[in-house]
Amino acid sequence: MEPGSAQHPWWHGAVLYQLYVRSWLDTDADGYGDLRGVISRLDHLEWLGVDGIWLSPTMPSPDTDWGYDVSDYLGVHPDYGTLADLDELIAQAGARGLPILLDLVPNHTSSQHAWFIDAVSGRDAAHRDYYVWADPAPGGGPPNNWLDATGHGAWTLDERSGQYYLHNFLVTQPDLNWWAPAVHEEFARVLEFWFDRGVAGFRIDVAHGLYKDAQLRDNPPVEPEDRGDPLVDHFGQQQIYNANQPQVHGVYRDWRKIAGQYAPERVLLGETWVRDPAQLAAFYGRGDELQLAFNFPFVFAGFSAAELAGVVRRTLETIPAGSCPVWMASNHDVGRFPSRWCGDDDQQTRLALLLLATLPGAVVLYYGDEIGMVDVAVPPALARDEMTQATDRPRTDRDRGRTPMQWDSSPLAGFTTAARPWLPVGDAAARNVAGQRADPGSTLNLCRDLLALRRAGLSGAIAPYRELTVDGGLWAYRVGDLTVAANLSAAPARWAGATGQIVLRTGGDAALAGDGGALTLGPWQGVVLRG
Ligand code: NOJ
Repeated sequence: MEPGSAQHPWWHGAVLYQLYVRSWLDTDADGYGDLRGVISRLDHLEWLGVDGIWLSPTMPSPDTDWGYDVSDYLGVHPDYGTLADLDELIAQAGARGLPILLDLVPNHTSSQHAWFIDAVSGRDAAHRDYYVWADPAPGGGPPNNWLDATGHGAWTLDERSGQYYLHNFLVTQPDLNWWAPAVHEEFARVLEFWFDRGVAGFRIDVAHGLYKDAQLRDNPPVEPEDRGDPLVDHFGQQQIYNANQPQVHGVYRDWRKIAGQYAPERVLLGETWVRDPAQLAAFYGRGDELQLAFNFPFVFAGFSAAELAGVVRRTLETIPAGSCPVWMASNHDVGRFPSRWCGDDDQQTRLALLLLATLPGAVVLYYGDEIGMVDVAVPPALARDEMTQATDRPRTDRDRGRTPMQWDSSPLAGFTTAARPWLPVGDAAARNVAGQRADPGSTLNLCRDLLALRRAGLSGAIAPYRELTVDGGLWAYRVGDLTVAANLSAAPARWAGATGQIVLRTGGDAALAGDGGALTLGPWQGVVLRG
């Protein structure tokens, strides 16, 4: 069966590339990346060998949360270009076999969206019930104890009507009311608008959100053993009532029907911020909800054989048979894995890329992962993320993983000709595309070789996976007809059960001694074997 056929949709075994448009390439010298920049560097992605592209938010927005505060779901942000530019990008990428996914933000709008501007005009406004409104608590003050993403109260009083509106993120991001049928109708239209233009699917922001408890009950405190867990501890609360409501599954069943009316079927990739594998599994429904659901326990696992293999095992045991797991390690919120997992060490980064490229299902690389780009310490005077700045609680800054793509070793890394890019450029001399393309031993060339190996051996289907060993620092598994052995430790490791021919190594001199002999791996070394 061909990849992309009904039985094996194109995303099975695929590598998606998260492209943060604002930081990719600036072609009009305003310091921000744009769609023409994306078009002009499609070559890089085709050469690298990815199978599809997810564009971070492209819709008009006042940018209090860099596009996650949408003011028009049917447009293109003027910083990025025009609808015609996006059409051209879809066409040009499509001609290279690269489907384009957009970012869809259905949990909330911008406070500048016409719906909200109308909703605050009075209790009788046509769009009033598009948002979550509540009277003050009996003794006055906010209706309940919910906290927003800055750790402050999630309710803001609208003086004019005397009611509070809910915002799970910033004050400028009022939550939509998914109990209102009109909201469903609006989003069905949004989906069809973009699918009709050839958009291959959506990454769905806050996919576990949308519905809120109809009784607006208080969230309970986090259990002591879960304190500090980013997937459970929301400023000391569990997000039981302000998100994670079962009704959300009905939305995805509806959207899946819409996606299924198109050929090829459109794909829904959820930002499913949940810890429990059963909760994650639920987003796949019975094969009738999201086709792809991000695995955040994998992201937050430690970079150790036991932790990563454990998440993979539990995930594959729990998600419904035939559903496609999704692995990623960097994004615009959690920062870059070469820093978080690997302490900016290239050897470890190469090993992490080997693991990502050989896991079954779908993999999402974040722009710059392929050159091992590390987090950038953005000085407070240059910080751009309001969410980070609005909180007085400990929270990792998000600007660090959003800095410009490092194309070459020049001071602004070939990203812009403006005097100043929107965020500072990292150490482009240390890691950049041009330098690494010219170096056969670079991380970039390793990543390309890995993706080629994946495409040849694992794409077009969800490859069967079998864990072979988790022994000290060693994680070995069989995936499709490949065997992967990874030494996630600073000490050499030996694996007696290795068989086959080494077809790729992350570096160094891994050796397989004799027939069915032992494999010796250096610190942080990984190999792929075949046969
Ligand atoms: C998740 C997005 O990835 C993040 O960047 C954003 O701030 C929140 N959702 C709110 O939309």
